[in-house]
Amino acid sequence: MSGHTTALKVAIDGPAGAGKSTVAKIAAKKLGYLYLDTGAMYRAATVLALRKGLSMEEPDEIAEAVAQAKIDLVPAANADGSPILKVFLDDEDITFEIRSREVSLMVSPLSTIGPVRDSLVAQQRRLAQSGGVVLDGRDIGTVVLPNAEVKIFLTASAAERAKRRMKEFEARGENVEFDTVLKEIIERDRRDSTREIAPLKKAPDASEVITDGMTINEVVEKILDLCSQAKLHERSRRELI
Ligand code: DC
Repeated sequence: MSGHTTALKVAIDGPAGAGKSTVAKIAAKKLGYLYLDTGAMYRAATVLALRKGLSMEEPDEIAEAVAQAKIDLVPAANADGSPILKVFLDDEDITFEIRSREVSLMVSPLSTIGPVRDSLVAQQRRLAQSGGVVLDGRDIGTVVLPNAEVKIFLTASAAERAKRRMKEFEARGENVEFDTVLKEIIERDRRDSTREIAPLKKAPDASEVITDGMTINEVVEKILDLCSQAKLHERSRRELI
């Protein structure tokens, strides 16, 4: 087995604003893994629907448009060297647009459309098949990669998550009241965890990490620890075979 490095599949799920994408991006870079923000894919699909003037009354048309579209996630770096994932829709950079409030309000209902999920899940599985990947989302450990070696359920209190989202909106110059953001987060949690297809829920074999009061670095370290343990476990499992 010497020299063989295990290319893990790392699944990170959790509610809106738990900090998944921030920590998943850094952890993936440290591991030298590909990072896939699956929420960004649902957001790109939402941008597409909005641009085509499609509403939630037209789920088949939305699904058809998503099946035809090219959604790409491309790793890049900010000016300070920190990792960023650029999102392209049919080769147009929509990285900024996917985080707008308009998109944030429509993405959760749109993600309940079964055939939209089918297209995006198929793409996610294809990209993840050889391992060496970190995926974050709502259904990664339960539906997309049920055989992932590392499963993490990342969460935080609704108030903590609303505080973080407020900062993001402020940075974009969008002024929103704290109570409104909190209400929208609670509503999104409710919708994401009660929908019929692939609801947000902790996989039975996932490690729960509650991030209230934890720094970004502490959360990243926790993820890397879980990955090291999984690698050791994989190695000893292979040596037994
Ligand atoms: O992680 P995020 O807030 O960018 O995700 C946006 C929405 O996409 C979220 O409200 C639910 C949906 N989503 C999903 O249904 N399944 C995923 N794997 C990722 C996101």
